[in-house]
Amino acid sequence: MTADPALYTPAESAAMDAALTAALAGPRGANPLVGAVILSPEGAQLATGFHRGAGTAHAEADAISVARRQGTDITGTTMVVTLEPCNHEGRTGPCAQAIIAAGIAKVIYAVDDPHDPAAGGARTLRAAGVDVRSGLAFERARDLNRDWFDAVAAKRPFVTLHIAQTLDSRIAAADGTSQWISSPESLADNHGLRGLIDAILVGTGTVLIDNPRLTARTADGELSGRQPIRAVMGLRDVPDDAAVRGTDGRFVHLPTRDPAEALGALFDQGIRHVMVEGGSSILSTFLAADLVDELIVYLAPTLLGSGTPALNDLGITTLADAQHWSWDEAGGGAVRTLGNDLRLHLRSPRGAATTIKNSIPQKNLVSHGEAAEYVTGGH
Ligand SMILES: NC(=O)c1ccc[n+]([C@@H]2O[C@H](COP(=O)([O-])OP(=O)(O)OC[C@H]3O[C@@H](n4cnc5c(N)ncnc54)[C@H](OP(=O)(O)O)[C@@H]3O)[C@@H](O)[C@H]2O)c1
Ligand SMILES: [Zn+2]
Repeated sequence: MTADPALYTPAESAAMDAALTAALAGPRGANPLVGAVILSPEGAQLATGFHRGAGTAHAEADAISVARRQGTDITGTTMVVTLEPCNHEGRTGPCAQAIIAAGIAKVIYAVDDPHDPAAGGARTLRAAGVDVRSGLAFERARDLNRDWFDAVAAKRPFVTLHIAQTLDSRIAAADGTSQWISSPESLADNHGLRGLIDAILVGTGTVLIDNPRLTARTADGELSGRQPIRAVMGLRDVPDDAAVRGTDGRFVHLPTRDPAEALGALFDQGIRHVMVEGGSSILSTFLAADLVDELIVYLAPTLLGSGTPALNDLGITTLADAQHWSWDEAGGGAVRTLGNDLRLHLRSPRGAATTIKNSIPQKNLVSHGEAAEYVTGGH
């Protein structure tokens, strides 16, 4: 479904480029990355919006509110957006209605919304007399969210895999100590993510060895406002006094060793974004099953030489079968420094173009703090 470029003006194509770039500022997760640009009839880009993650304004609504804040009249304009405007009454209200109410005359979007409840935004817009076209930059918009489209199609949550490791890929020392391998800045980043996701998942091994709480906490140790469901996967019982059980009822034991079954059970509970935090067996089983969409690695400049490796067998015996991940620019960049650590952000090799982009984007090497001290304590 590639659109004929002749159907679009240079200004419309340029606006779609800008919308695709704007989308990249958002975080990956339960919702897709979406960008939107409002274009004047003369082809001027009047306002740009993007989606900042589940529960926040959609890109179209964001662009409309940017225009309103600027005092720009957007009646009779064109909305250029990377995904079909939604039609459903979600947490933020349907964008199709917001576009109609704003008096926007034309909508150009790249790719259809795959959700059943959201489908139909284009039809609603047309019924209200808005001129709607789709397919401009279809491939790029599809690729922008390819893992999210896969997760939606498979009816499973979007999966982020998190690893805090040493330079030599260890996640615990030989005596079992593992807290904390990463710097306070990395821990703060991880706790920020915990506050955005729907569920956090570890194996029974991590629970029995580390007894983690798996809550989202602020720098001073207070519980953050939004807490993920705490899921533990594995056949062994989770002890009655395990910290992960907590007292808020947001704990679930998944008595399975099948990652797809674990994800299915979480999806059935309404969970759309899971962060898998370890340990090695669980990380490896999700990677081997090709059930990871996004990888976040906190790499500490520390050597252990022995201890628990981040990963064990992925079923790969020859280089030709290696998994080639790609650097992900979305949500703050592919490589950042966090205190004394590097934070690496990667996309799954699934469905990627055959050309592997192996260059680290230097523009994303931003320092976020001074060299960090290592601290000890519970998860
Ligand atoms: N640095 C970090 O980011 C980080 C994060 C978490 C953990 N860790 C470290 O990781 C270490 C624990 O690693 P681990 O591998 O022993 O524990 P794990 O991965 O947390 O749990 C392993 C257990 O999960 C169950 N399980 C469920 N599905 C499985 C599958 N498909 N394949 C294999 N096992 C499955 C098995 O127990 P059942 O018999 O119950 O089924 C298995 O023994 C600890 O030292 C911890 O400190 C580090
Ligand atoms: Zn919307």
